[in-house]
Amino acid sequence: MITGVCLNPSFDKTVEVDALALGEVNRIRSVRVDMGGKGVNVAVVAHRLGLDALCIGCMGEQGARQFTQLLDAEGLAHRFLTVPGAIRTNLKVVSLDGKGVTELNEPGAPLSAQDMKAFFALAREEAARSDYMVLTGSLPPGCPENAYGELIRALGNTRCILDAGGAALRLGAEAGPFLIKPNLAELEQALGAQLRTLRSIRDAALIFLRKGAAHVVVSMGAMGAMYVSEARTLYAPALKVEARSTVGAGDAMVGGMLLGLQQEGDMAHAFRCGIAAGAASVMTEGTQLIRPEDFQRLVSQVKVQEV
Ligand SMILES: Nc1ncnc2c1ncn2[C@@H]1O[C@H](COP(=O)(O)OP(=O)(O)OP(=O)(O)O)[C@@H](O)[C@H]1O
Ligand SMILES: [Mg+2]
Repeated sequence: MITGVCLNPSFDKTVEVDALALGEVNRIRSVRVDMGGKGVNVAVVAHRLGLDALCIGCMGEQGARQFTQLLDAEGLAHRFLTVPGAIRTNLKVVSLDGKGVTELNEPGAPLSAQDMKAFFALAREEAARSDYMVLTGSLPPGCPENAYGELIRALGNTRCILDAGGAALRLGAEAGPFLIKPNLAELEQALGAQLRTLRSIRDAALIFLRKGAAHVVVSMGAMGAMYVSEARTLYAPALKVEARSTVGAGDAMVGGMLLGLQQEGDMAHAFRCGIAAGAASVMTEGTQLIRPEDFQRLVSQVKVQEV
């Protein structure tokens, strides 16, 4: 089983306007609400690809019923603690004149020390049944910035995949995760340096291997991704697909890698599956994640090369 951790779930509300005008009244053409939060997204992708997947976390009690209905509609197993407050709404405003997507993200329901303690107990329980646990997404107010690091330590032998940026990545890597998957901007931000060449990206990944991560995948959007471990470095260009929305490509990539790991346990295969899942996700509109048939068609097209 794979378990996605989501401490700060969201309603992802996507609205379309003709042309977003700041400081003016904008008429909305269409509205769509999906469940969100990176931990949820990864678990949904893993589930759609056929894995035994569970999502755990904490959610504000206001909105919990609607959120649970969305999880059930997806057929995803879940165990969430409810906490005082409301599930946040992340608003994505799509400007139909081609000016891109403006995002307004709420902070989310705060977690108290007591909530965290209860969640750690839940996570330890589920870790005992999980092959992999995925820790990803923004931390809600009240959550210490090393929460992922503490969680990785608390989960003992369960293999943890950490997909976070900034301090959560720096501190989490020191706790010895199985794999980290920063995108290039997150890696640059964590190190406070610009990375312009494959060589410099590889050197940056090696820093995180020394900190304690066993495997590093650096995703680079339409430029593909790099895999680095002590044993080998791989690079794969992104697949050429018609890009509709790149939101959640990284989450899909992690879901794809989990499938690869569960199938063969071989990192090159997992990396290939990650590239295919990332590409499949950009083929879907907005926050709609992935269609398994796209993934199946793409996976044989991925070209992985040794660097
Ligand atoms: N335009 C694209 N065309 C094809 N593949 C893409 C494209 N964008 C992303 N991918 C694939 O998905 C992978 C992950 O994408 P990306 O680096 O954008 O993740 P991310 O920034 O973590 O995304 P998010 O956090 O929003 O989920 C890339 O390494 C690439 O293989
Ligand atoms: Mg990401």
